Amino acid sequence: MANTVLIGLQWGDEGKGKIIDYITGRSDVVVRFQGGNNAGHTVEIGDEKFILHLIPSGILRSKALCIIGNGVVVNPLSLHDEIDELKRRGIKVDGRLQVSTRCQLVFQYHCMLDGLFEKKLGDSKIGTTKRGIGPAYADKVNRVGIRAADLKHLDRFEKRFRAQAAFYNRIFRDAGVDELDVDAEWKKLSDVAPRVAPLVTDTVLTLNQMVKAGKEVLFEGAQGTYLDVDYGTYPYVTSSNTTSGAACTGGGIAPSRIDLVVGVAKAYTTRVGSGPFPTEATGEIGEYLRKQGGEYGATTGRPRRCGWFDAVATRYAVMLTGADSIAVTKLDVLDSLDKIPVCIAYELDGKRITEMPSDTEEIARVVPVYEELPGWKQSTANVRSWNDFPAAAKAYLQHLVELIGARLDIVSVGPKRDQTMSLNPA
Ligand code: GDP
Ligand code: IMO
Ligand code: MG
Repeated sequence: MANTVLIGLQWGDEGKGKIIDYITGRSDVVVRFQGGNNAGHTVEIGDEKFILHLIPSGILRSKALCIIGNGVVVNPLSLHDEIDELKRRGIKVDGRLQVSTRCQLVFQYHCMLDGLFEKKLGDSKIGTTKRGIGPAYADKVNRVGIRAADLKHLDRFEKRFRAQAAFYNRIFRDAGVDELDVDAEWKKLSDVAPRVAPLVTDTVLTLNQMVKAGKEVLFEGAQGTYLDVDYGTYPYVTSSNTTSGAACTGGGIAPSRIDLVVGVAKAYTTRVGSGPFPTEATGEIGEYLRKQGGEYGATTGRPRRCGWFDAVATRYAVMLTGADSIAVTKLDVLDSLDKIPVCIAYELDGKRITEMPSDTEEIARVVPVYEELPGWKQSTANVRSWNDFPAAAKAYLQHLVELIGARLDIVSVGPKRDQTMSLNPA
């Protein structure tokens, strides 16, 4: 029985949702441990497409219990809508979803603050999803946040909500922007709270009891390594730790209980929002990758910036996260290319370097050094086993994992559930 943490090794949207869905076939519990509804995890099953934002992707497998751990910031209105939508589409949610009492809640005033900060930043804006994620985490560390436990106690919830809302309304007033209609917002919250409250429980207990009973747990990372608030391209990051260690603090499990870290990487790279992206391909080729890969944000619909595989950044991410096992997604997007550049080093101020700089200003200045690998010029969409890959595709994949120092365990060649293969079945 392996307890597995799955995280993104690039700038998010690596195809984590799809790989989680593939792995959860055998998981008993799936746990989200950070982020919020800034995430958009896509799973395609047959002709149906699901995009999960707050609820663990494991909900689509009938067996798995799903937990929203304490490290997640939860917008109760969005959670309620997401549950309704899944139920409407025939997914069984009742009795299968738990929310930690310790989750911080996200409210409309956080979303408004998110918008206000972005406006203030002007051209240097982060390009957030405007879901209020940063302001909600800021409230948490400022010790003024409201937690999911309060959903069970409307009186104290109302008092805290109105106090915080009044405080932020003074800021909105000073900034000359619209204030929050507190009564209208409280009406929505007081309607939804009793519906979400029954899900709220001490998930640390549930999780650790399941682990003790030998159940298999999958921790579902959101975002990616370079959006991590400590290790990413700060300040162009999200406001949580997105790397594997966060599974412990945000899920409520000890490091000694984690057996495996799976890192997901696209066969190329994308990023949405602002900030340095060394291997970004602008112009025609960037547009080509965006079109072939359908690279538009699953949460905001924004076009994603596209570029080549960056072995320097991804190797550092593997080291940092301990992702010994790799899933490479979207190989099929490269099917028609003659030659495929892979970044193997950077030049920084005229000097060749092979490690990711830790100073964002330096990351912004690096010039990628590429080597070109031959393309395979045929479709891989129907490949289901290693031996069926064209030789050049095998060479490309093998080269990527050699460069980043990890084991290739899963390859994905299309968005559908069955377009996935395990190379080293357990
Ligand atoms: P996540 O946030 O990491 O879960 O990734 P997203 O769902 O935001 O973005 C990944 C996108 O790529 C989704 O539209 C998936 O349906 C799609 N996708 C995942 N794996 C593959 C693949 O191997 N090939 C192709 N063509 N699309 C894929
Ligand atoms: P998944 O889980 C890609 C990016 C935003 C922005 C920055 C900060 O689907 O991979 P935030 O709203 O979090 O304060 O925005 O982080 N971002 C993501 N990019 N995938 C995501 O999630 C993201 N979640 C946030 O675009 O640049
Ligand atoms: Mg996504």
